[in-house]
Amino acid sequence: TGYITLDSGFSNTGSCTSAITYLDGANGILDYYGYAIEELAENCSFTEVAYLILHKELPTYDQLESFKHDMVRFALLHEDMIHFFDHFPPNASPMSILSTSVNALHNYYPEMDEELDPYGGYTVTAARLLSKIRTIAAFSYKKSIGHPLVYPSARLNYCENFLNMMFDRPNLPYRIRPEFASALNKLLILHADHEQNCSTSTVRLVGSSGCNLYASISAGISALWGPLHGGANQAVVKMLEAILHDGGDFRKYIEKAKDKNDPFRLSGFGHRVYKTFDPRAKIIKQSCAEIMNLLEINDPLLDIALELEEIARTDDYFVSRNLYPNVDFYSGIIYRAMGIPTNMFTVMFAMGRMPGWIAQWTEMVEDKENARIGRPRQVYAGNTRRPFVPMKDR
Ligand code: CMC
Repeated sequence: TGYITLDSGFSNTGSCTSAITYLDGANGILDYYGYAIEELAENCSFTEVAYLILHKELPTYDQLESFKHDMVRFALLHEDMIHFFDHFPPNASPMSILSTSVNALHNYYPEMDEELDPYGGYTVTAARLLSKIRTIAAFSYKKSIGHPLVYPSARLNYCENFLNMMFDRPNLPYRIRPEFASALNKLLILHADHEQNCSTSTVRLVGSSGCNLYASISAGISALWGPLHGGANQAVVKMLEAILHDGGDFRKYIEKAKDKNDPFRLSGFGHRVYKTFDPRAKIIKQSCAEIMNLLEINDPLLDIALELEEIARTDDYFVSRNLYPNVDFYSGIIYRAMGIPTNMFTVMFAMGRMPGWIAQWTEMVEDKENARIGRPRQVYAGNTRRPFVPMKDR
């Protein structure tokens, strides 16, 4: 009881304390454990950044080698899980397959619940999840196109392994382009954590009930699926394709986005916290231009995206509301260049966000001082108490 303050969308509620990500939305600053994402994206491998997020410090050479070895040894799925993929309909969404499979991992690897983890803490489960999410993602794609599964290889690094599992074929061996592996590496780093966004808050809230890590992350994957969150990367490319098929008339879409009677929004624009250019989008935009130039790829969707951005950045509607491109605006164009199908884009986001979800869940579980089940209140807006009406009088 007492006075409850309504905070729709939790715009102004701090739900936890966290030491992982620092985000300054007014100035477009994003750090992981005090390191600027620009520097991490430029100098690190995704595995190295995942280690940082999970272990709070950048790894030494030996620590990184050991973590890379974990990525290799946990990459296989239990063979029984392979049958899962046979029983989804052919057009099943890879996000649904991912969330289901991550939840099911708990049945195959329940050690963390039973405190049998020989290394203590959640390190083995964390490495398992991080490594296996690639395998689940690639297997779901292979099944959807009816191709044989390609198993993970001990010789390839994190990103190369994923690309190889996606695109290698017995009759047409895949040559991993270093440019793609490096662009993917950067994209995953930029998605690794982003404080209390919708999916991360979901992971914490579900976990606060005492639910296991796999189930909590499975719920986070479902939250990420929506087009206002991670699903935006897919929605952006669909929007750009629609504009292209509409003769390239992007001004029409700008007008639609501004029309308050039209539910259409410019996907990949706007952010709850950033009121300036999303620092991740800056790096991705540059990386997108570089890769297109380097590989001499001409994607008309990139031209449309640039035009949209140009107009939106000078249009009063977008300027007055501080609507800038966010992380999802240019990422899909890079994924497209790599040959990743549109319905897998949000799965890519989930792969990148995995270290953040695990670290946030662990941080919550280890914060004994503030350990309470997440349980927001409401402002009641219904009837006052009234007499019961028997069925015959209704
Ligand atoms: N296109 C047109 N108008 C917009 C847009 C947009 N993309 N985003 C916000 N607005 C308007 C909104 O209509 C509102 O106008 P008014 O004040 O006149 O009512 C104003 O800007 C403030 O928007 P809001 O809905 O109160 O902002 P929010 O913080 O609740 O929502 C958002 C943030 C990201 C959901 C929203 O900007 C949006 O829907 N963007 C498009 C979807 C998208 O790109 N999502 C990815 C977000 S970043 C990464 C991630 O989380 O995955």
